[in-house]
Amino acid sequence: MAKEKMVTVKAEINAKFTVGELLRIICKCKATEALLLLELVSSELDPETGLGKKKAVQGYAKLGKKFWLKSTVHGYPNLGKKFWLKSTVHGYPNLGNKFRLKSKFDVPESFGDVGAVLVKNEYDKEMYLNNIVLTRGGSSNAPITISCNSWIASKCDDNSQMRIFFTNKSYLPSETPRGLKKLREEDLKNLRGDGKGERKSSDRIYDYDKYNDLGDPDHCSNELARPVLGGTQLPYPRRCRTGRGPSEKDPLSEKRSSSVYVPRDEAFSEPKELEFKATTAKELLHMLVPSIETALNDKIGFPNLTAIDNIFNQGARLPRLQNQGLLQLVAFVAQIRDDILLFDTPEIFKRDKFCWLKDEEFSRQTLAGVNPYSIQLVKEWPLKSKLDPKIYGPCECSITKELLEREIKGIMTVDEALEQKKLFILDYHDLLLPFVKKVRALEDTTMYGSRTIFFLKPDSTLRPIAIELTRPPMGDKANPWKKVFTPGYDATTCWLWKFAKVHVGAHDSGYHELVSHWLRTHCCLEPYIIATHRQLSAMHPIYRLLHPHLRYTMEINVRARLNLINAGGIIEKCFSPGKYSMELSSAAYDQIWRFDMEALPADLIRRGMAVEDPTSPHGLKLTIPDYPFANDGLLVWDAIKSWISDYVSHYYAMASHIETDSELQAWWTEIRTKGHEDKKNELWWPKLKNQDDLIQILTTIAWVASCHHAAVNFGQYTYGGYFPNRPSIARTNMPTEDISTEDHKIFMEKPESVLMKCFPSQIQATMVMAVLRSLSTHSRDEEYLSGSIEPSWDENPQIKKAFERFKKKLIEVSGIIDERNEDPKLLNRTGAGVVPYKLLKPFSEPGVTGMGVPNSTSI
Ligand SMILES: *[C@@H]1O[C@H](CO)[C@@H](O)[C@H](O)[C@H]1NC(C)=O
Ligand SMILES: *[C@@H]1O[C@H](CO)[C@@H](O)[C@H](O)[C@H]1NC(C)=O
Ligand SMILES: *[C@@H]1O[C@H](CO)[C@@H](O)[C@H](O)[C@H]1NC(C)=O
Ligand SMILES: [Fe+2]
Repeated sequence: MAKEKMVTVKAEINAKFTVGELLRIICKCKATEALLLLELVSSELDPETGLGKKKAVQGYAKLGKKFWLKSTVHGYPNLGKKFWLKSTVHGYPNLGNKFRLKSKFDVPESFGDVGAVLVKNEYDKEMYLNNIVLTRGGSSNAPITISCNSWIASKCDDNSQMRIFFTNKSYLPSETPRGLKKLREEDLKNLRGDGKGERKSSDRIYDYDKYNDLGDPDHCSNELARPVLGGTQLPYPRRCRTGRGPSEKDPLSEKRSSSVYVPRDEAFSEPKELEFKATTAKELLHMLVPSIETALNDKIGFPNLTAIDNIFNQGARLPRLQNQGLLQLVAFVAQIRDDILLFDTPEIFKRDKFCWLKDEEFSRQTLAGVNPYSIQLVKEWPLKSKLDPKIYGPCECSITKELLEREIKGIMTVDEALEQKKLFILDYHDLLLPFVKKVRALEDTTMYGSRTIFFLKPDSTLRPIAIELTRPPMGDKANPWKKVFTPGYDATTCWLWKFAKVHVGAHDSGYHELVSHWLRTHCCLEPYIIATHRQLSAMHPIYRLLHPHLRYTMEINVRARLNLINAGGIIEKCFSPGKYSMELSSAAYDQIWRFDMEALPADLIRRGMAVEDPTSPHGLKLTIPDYPFANDGLLVWDAIKSWISDYVSHYYAMASHIETDSELQAWWTEIRTKGHEDKKNELWWPKLKNQDDLIQILTTIAWVASCHHAAVNFGQYTYGGYFPNRPSIARTNMPTEDISTEDHKIFMEKPESVLMKCFPSQIQATMVMAVLRSLSTHSRDEEYLSGSIEPSWDENPQIKKAFERFKKKLIEVSGIIDERNEDPKLLNRTGAGVVPYKLLKPFSEPGVTGMGVPNSTSI
């Protein structure tokens, strides 16, 4: 048999180790050892070359020529000195952990296109592969890049596998080159795992579990047990399974641990360039908690309003703060001089320190603040409650038409106002009322159900006109307590109105963190991430489209479970619902969350903030024309949607290709039935039958991960950093709820001091400020929507063009938003002392900027 002619294929492997590891290798001359074992896989199964038989035996095409990487390379470790080594490593002087390996393959001419590379890490530590570049010798073919961006477990880890990396070309399952079919399945099978055993940090398995690790039943205090979230009792999305054993006292709860598994490539802690990111913002969360527990029990409030203002003027003196660890960690977000904390001044306080007192600012923030997701149109009067009147008292709203008409001041009747869509509401009645009794049994906090009514005046200013606070019948108080507060003119009415606004502010901040922020973005995204990795191959075009929007979310969610939303964590300690916080978020998931309503247009229509109107720019007419979140949001929504439409139509020419895409269908089924298992029987789940369905589903996911999250996240310090504007908790009842109390007496003498007892304590305020400050920070390497192009898109001219259009559009949007903020007619975004609305402006500098839309939910 004639010997087949061979071609040389050169491989260049760009890789890195964890920080310091390369130095160790070099110093110990470990580099003489082989580091990687590679196998090139042809995308063809059976070329007519006599090699076909061998391939058939393997089940997929492979050359079978194994390659040990060695030979000469020079490395430049951090020392800045040249080290000559026996292997070929080109080092980059400033990045001591990056290196390049080279190798050569002799490949028969008939081998066909390389479709995948199999990689085994022969070294005794994990290694990060950026990419592999293959150049075929003797031809003018462009090099092929295989993007890996993945940690390769060492052969010494017992879970190590021959890792599979495909080229950057995307294929629907039915179009998979025949030589890669088995590998495509095998790779997904590895990612799904078998659902057994405890996960190790080097694993890369994605699986589902309930939220059964928020509590710590085994903790000595006995106070940290919490119910499992997920199931019919307390419905909830699923999180990533870690497989830790059950706790000792409660077999349904998982044992807590100080570090929690995330699939290896989801972790932040990548080498150097991520370190900065970690220490500036993300690591902080990690550091915040252990030391806080004792300090948080300190209930001392601020002595007076001046003392609150002085946090920014003179710094906060925290004499009771003896814990050194706490001081140090706070130092990450604020400067400390002696025992004084200096926070940078939140934008809102910088511009107008009286803003928190103003009714017009209170209503403006429902449209342009950090929680623009709650305000809704009042569609009928009287308002009705869905709660059981036997338990919660009469369901009628006690805000009467007469009262409203008095507050509307005869401009129109309530019926006219309803008809002309002039009445709006923040409705925290049905969600909160069932928690009031439980929450009031806790120390140092309280709660009401609340309804806040706004009127859009003919001069089109939105004004809060009435707040109803309700306490259900409880214990020896057989009657509910229900009172309506109005702005008023006399001193007592005015002060009570301020107190009522503080309570509503606390309801809104709790709802914002637990529902608008945590539940609807972080928590609901996790199932999409898990399903995407389990069901869509890395070579699936939709995997590649979604991937940038799903990065780092699992890791930040783990940190939230460790420190923020866990039993005894910051949310429980600093927000009104206390230990019932997460149950509240489960109730919201049960009552409110629907996938189809997570799309911006659907969300606006559902809240009555828009109606469909084909003649309007986005097919929507806004009920309040100057609704900054909606106006900017729709621009970005449209940009994302047309990019995704271009992308989807490129890969799916016909609806039938969507119906027959087995991976895609399995992905969508799994999101509905496993990730959101408690909602699997809902009829509102969109079908996935054609291109439009897919575009809508993908746009919704990308919107939630990027824009929805940015809108509720990056303004947190701007608006909440000065806590009188958005107190996280109201600790005492309305002074008039029980007029026999000492508080009522003090209220009449010096209302300010009662307000100080109602506001967060000093330590609660400081902690929340520190957390909000860190959550509002963009890291230096943040990637914004339409940032740098993914390699696989870059290689496809049509996708590349569509991506460039997307980028151009977002730059335009950025300009439009700037213009809007300058427009004197748009009173909700500009005016004396008003913080302009920039939260959906796509790009940003690092730091606390109150703008910038990153790809994914990662803080
Ligand atoms: C506020 O409280 C501080 C600390 O107790 C006190 O020094 C200051 O005089 C008070 N200011 C006013 C205006 O009451
Ligand atoms: C908010 O938007 C409305 C509707 O355009 C506008 O007329 C109103 O004046 C704005 N509200 C404030 C407080 O500026
Ligand atoms: C962010 O998304 C863009 C595409 O929208 C992508 O090119 C870029 O790589 C992404 N960045 C990250 C960190 O995922
Ligand atoms: Fe967040």
